Amino acid sequence: MALKSRGSSRCSPGTESSCARGELGRMRAAVCSSVWLWLWLVLVLGCQRVSGGAAHRSGAQTWPVPYKRFDHRPKPDPYCQPIYPFCPKGSSNGEIPQMKDQDIIEVYRLQTPVWEFKFGDLLGHFHIMHDAIGFRSSFTGKNYTMEWYELFQLGNCTFPHLRPELETPFWCNQGAACFFEGIDDLHWKENGTLVKISEITGEIFNRMAKWVKEDNETGIYYETWTVHASGAPNATVWFESYDCSKFVLRTYQKLFEFGAVLKSPIQTNYTRLYLYSGEPMYLGNDTIFGPNGTKILAAQIRSFYFPFRPHQHVKELMESLLEIIAEVLLEKTFYLYFNFEYWLLPMKFPYIKIIYEEIPLPSK
Ligand SMILES: *[C@@H]1O[C@H](CO)[C@@H](O)[C@H](O)[C@H]1NC(C)=O
Ligand SMILES: *[C@@H]1O[C@H](CO)[C@@H](O)[C@H](O)[C@H]1NC(C)=O
Ligand SMILES: *[C@@H]1O[C@H](CO)[C@@H](O)[C@H](O)[C@H]1NC(C)=O
Ligand SMILES: *[C@@H]1O[C@H](CO)[C@@H](O)[C@H](O)[C@H]1NC(C)=O
Ligand SMILES: *[C@@H]1O[C@H](CO)[C@@H](O)[C@H](O)[C@H]1NC(C)=O
Ligand SMILES: *[C@@H]1O[C@H](CO)[C@@H](O)[C@H](O)[C@H]1NC(C)=O
Ligand SMILES: *[C@@H]1O[C@H](CO)[C@@H](O)[C@H](O)[C@H]1NC(C)=O
Ligand SMILES: *[C@@H]1O[C@H](CO)[C@@H](O)[C@H](O)[C@H]1NC(C)=O
Repeated sequence: MALKSRGSSRCSPGTESSCARGELGRMRAAVCSSVWLWLWLVLVLGCQRVSGGAAHRSGAQTWPVPYKRFDHRPKPDPYCQPIYPFCPKGSSNGEIPQMKDQDIIEVYRLQTPVWEFKFGDLLGHFHIMHDAIGFRSSFTGKNYTMEWYELFQLGNCTFPHLRPELETPFWCNQGAACFFEGIDDLHWKENGTLVKISEITGEIFNRMAKWVKEDNETGIYYETWTVHASGAPNATVWFESYDCSKFVLRTYQKLFEFGAVLKSPIQTNYTRLYLYSGEPMYLGNDTIFGPNGTKILAAQIRSFYFPFRPHQHVKELMESLLEIIAEVLLEKTFYLYFNFEYWLLPMKFPYIKIIYEEIPLPSK
């Protein structure tokens, strides 16, 4: 799962000033993640009235809906301001150092629970994990961490801002790759995993680095949810998430294609946040909210997201949640934002699940 977790238990949100810079960087989204995750457990149910006004698209829909790639990454809107800076230890241009072709690079699977902040061990209990990859050059002895996460914290990737001056919900949902020197062994090892899964040549590493650059430029936004038709193993997949673990899995696949042999001494499980729904209905993009949009639908989407607007305090959030839970069981609807477009999900039992499931390393 993609929750940015590299939190340090030594820092708490109220004591930012007493935290070393590095620690702050690590807390980043972690703190918010926890809150939002907690919400999701309940959100499950988040429902509002369903409306007509669905847009129509010609041709049969492909499932899962392919994640849209862009030809470049746009500059984030200045409205989006991170609480914690993105990738504080990385170089300003995201440079990945060139390795000598003959170098032997050890590859590590890194995973740690997201469990800081108020809800304590709860998130650890649910196996809400953050994933990353570590590298160590035999020639230089230097090691590196590579991960992918939200630029503006998870809450902002999962729910939009409803700005009074704008009809259109406003999303700060970019996610990106971060590469930096160093591996904080303790952080990963103590409550998570740090295991060697491969040794690759410098040449393979350099090819991977080139791919990471492209992937980072073209895959620009974070998607929290995986949406399936049911809990059955062969259920139709409507939408795939796009998060930290997906990045790690894509990278493993690339390394494998480049000739790496990957092997883990332990089971490789990842966190997924599942929604369960009947066939999703395409609603349209931001034009829903424009002068030629569908007023009722626009109002419904806004009211669906209203309780989850990112600026609230935890207490307020909990209150809004309680308010909507009652409605939840009545109207089984979720408005999903994917590829910068809205979809209506007719939610089905069991509505939502957090699953820590095995996805083996690529091997054939
Ligand atoms: C979301 O984005 C807003 C606006 O940039 C920012 O002020 C806020 O800190 C972010 N909220 C969370 C929960 O990350
Ligand atoms: C990925 O893109 C982000 C946002 O532009 C940038 O900060 C980061 O350095 C890039 N990462 C890599 C590895 O290129
Ligand atoms: C990474 O380098 C740091 C600093 O040299 C060291 O403390 C740590 O043990 C190394 N970790 C790995 C996995 O190589
Ligand atoms: C590991 O978990 C324990 C128990 O929750 C916690 O006290 C400790 O700070 C965690 N360590 C790290 C490095 O996150
Ligand atoms: C899924 O598998 C079940 C049995 O495991 C089978 O009854 C069902 O027909 C399958 N559904 C699809 C869509 O393949
Ligand atoms: C939004 O949808 C409208 C109507 O389907 C389409 O004409 C327009 O190009 C779309 N805008 C974007 C930015 O994709
Ligand atoms: C709304 O529709 C009218 C008539 O079809 C068209 O002239 C106008 O440009 C549209 N406005 C927008 C913002 O799409
Ligand atoms: C890892 O995933 C497998 C299969 O998806 C599951 O049986 C196992 O319980 C999971 N491990 C943990 C620790 O949850």
